[in-house]
This record gives sequence, structure tokens and C-alpha cells, in this order.
Amino acid sequence: MRVLGIETSCDETSAAIVEGDGTGAATIRSLAILSQEVHAIFGGVVPELASREHLRGLVPVVDATLGRAGMEFADVDAIAVTAGPGLVGALLVGVSYAKALAARLARPLIGVHHMEGHLFATMLESADAVPPFTALLVSGGHTLLVDVPAWGTYRTLGATRDDAAGEAFDKAAKLLGLPYPGGPAIERLATTVAPDAAVRFPRPMLHGGQRRGDDDWYDVSFSGLKTAVRLAAADAAAHGRLEAARGAIARGFQDAVVETLAAKVARAVRDHGRPRVVIGGGVAGNRALLEAIRASVGPGVVVHAPSARLATDNAAMIAAAGLWRLARGERSGPELVAFAGGPLPGAG
Ligand code: KG4
Ligand code: ZN
Repeated sequence: MRVLGIETSCDETSAAIVEGDGTGAATIRSLAILSQEVHAIFGGVVPELASREHLRGLVPVVDATLGRAGMEFADVDAIAVTAGPGLVGALLVGVSYAKALAARLARPLIGVHHMEGHLFATMLESADAVPPFTALLVSGGHTLLVDVPAWGTYRTLGATRDDAAGEAFDKAAKLLGLPYPGGPAIERLATTVAPDAAVRFPRPMLHGGQRRGDDDWYDVSFSGLKTAVRLAAADAAAHGRLEAARGAIARGFQDAVVETLAAKVARAVRDHGRPRVVIGGGVAGNRALLEAIRASVGPGVVVHAPSARLATDNAAMIAAAGLWRLARGERSGPELVAFAGGPLPGAG
């Protein structure tokens, strides 16, 4: 079965053709991603502009995907589209287009939860990144620790209490005068600073007194860390040395985020006895995070991370999740609606 995937939940307009039998494994035939650059000067995504850019970009992006796969619409067996969570105006562009296309081609349609898509992304490159696994999803909008005994069953163990991990990177970068998106900028700067030169920030929601069963055992929180970065940056600026201190602050911030996330992943792996870890979302492209998780879970547990292309938002992961659901006979009708927020399906 060949599925056309469509993703318009945030600031990437993407379409892909993914092929498989729906048992889990799947191959990318083509993938096109148009990253909206219009938001950079605003230091964050502007929802109205995102919708407008999707309207402009979606048809050419779908055409490019079909062209790269050497296919026509008639070769598409089904359509999968991100229905949420995300920016509703942006999602509506993809959902409306997908519904119209499915009706026109008389092909089945499936609405996909964006975060389920991130769970499937890594499997497209690493055939072993399949359940059972512990998942850490870290993006601009979400931070979720999930136990995945099987595809379709997603037990959320922990989440952020405030800012998402990517959002924290973006805000810290802004405080340091670095460009948007902040994650890659902070990572680049942090690699130029030796570990012992980093500013030491508190590790949020990580303290010795915690026990399994405590409600902060798996959760994270980044807003206090953001305040600590703000204070450190203001202090350095007041002494006229922000320029010199920027690297040490960036490194200290990244160390605190990465160490906290890695410790929480290790707890989940241990508590649920999973043999592997799958990470996903834009922040999963961070090398320091991957290395910290590998170190914290130890050599007996395999950690799979997607490449940068599949870590950030893309339609191949949406097509892969859709393919699995379509093969089980699931369908969305013309009543499919875009939704801003909501838990992963299959909490069972
Ligand atoms: O998954 P994604 O592309 O979009 C959402 O669904 O939100 O994630 C984007 C987020 C941004 O906040 C960006 O700063 C962050 O991922 N990010 C990174 C890195 N690359 C992207 N954060 C840390 N290190 C990176 N290398
Ligand atoms: Zn995402």
C-alpha cells in the first residue's frame, strides 16, 4: 500500500509517499519539506502567517513529492493527514486538502495524531526501532515520556509541567540573543565550551528525595531553568560581559536540560524493563541529548534517534503512522476535524 502523507501542524509544509504492508515496517519513496522562513524575524512561529504559507506551499509540495516518487495521484492508495495537535488554522489547510483529495480520488483517508507520527519516524530509518520501547518525544510544543508496549498502545508516563523542551531551548536562545530556532544555535555554541566552564544551573524535577510513584518521578519542568538563564544573562550584561558569558550559559542550560531528560528516560526504562529507547521530535536531533541518554541507560539498552530530517516535522512519519492504522481497517470520514490539543490515542 502506498500512502500519501500530509503534515501542516506548525511551520513545515510537508508531503511524502510511504510504502508498506502496514505491519510496522515501511519505506519512504519520497519526502518533500518546505520550512517556512518567514517566522525567523519574529523569533517564533506566527500562526496566521503559518496558515498562509501552508496555503501557498501545499500544492507544490505534494506535486514535488509525487514527481520525486515518479508517481501520479492514481498511484496513491490512501491519504494520511495530521489532524492535531498543532495550530488549528495551519492544520485546517492540510485536513481540508486531504479530505477533498480523498473524495476526488475515492481513496481512504486517515487522520493522524502528530505525536504518534513522531513515534513512527525513527522506524523509517532503523528497522529495529519498533515496540516494545520507552519513548521520549521532545519538540517545540511537547515533552512526553511514553511507554510503548505495542504500536497503538501509548502509556504517557510523564510530561512537562510548563514549557516544552524545544520551547525552553528557543526561549533561552532568545534571552542570549541567539537566532530562532534556538535549539541548533544553543547546541552549536555549547560545543565550543568545556564542561567545567559551564554555568551550573539547577536540574529541574531531579532531586535525591524522589521515589517511584511520586508525581514528579517522570515529569519535567523548564520554566525555573529559563528564569535562571534570564538572571545569569542579566547579571553578565550588567557587568558588560554577556558576549563572553554567552557560551558558558548556553552550555550550562543544555547540560541541565539534557541531564534531566536522560535521568527520566533511564527511570522509565528501568521501571518498565524495555530493551530499547526511541527518541523523536526536533530536540531529538541534539547530539548531547542522545549521548546523555546512551550513558544513563547503559550498554544493555539500545537508543534509536532519527536523523535531523526525520526528527523535525515531516510527512513521512505521518504516512507511516497512517499506514499502520489503515492496515487495521481504520478510516476517517468527511467529518474529520483539526484539533489543537489532545492526548495520544490508545492510553490502554
Ligand atoms: O518537532 P519540531 O520540528 O516541531 C514541533 O513539533 O514543535 O521541533 C522543533 C523544536 C524547536 O523548538 C527547536 O529549537 C528544537 O526543536 N530543536 C533543537 C535542535 N534542533 C531543533 N533543540 C535542541 N537541539 C537541537 N539540535
Ligand atoms: Zn512535531
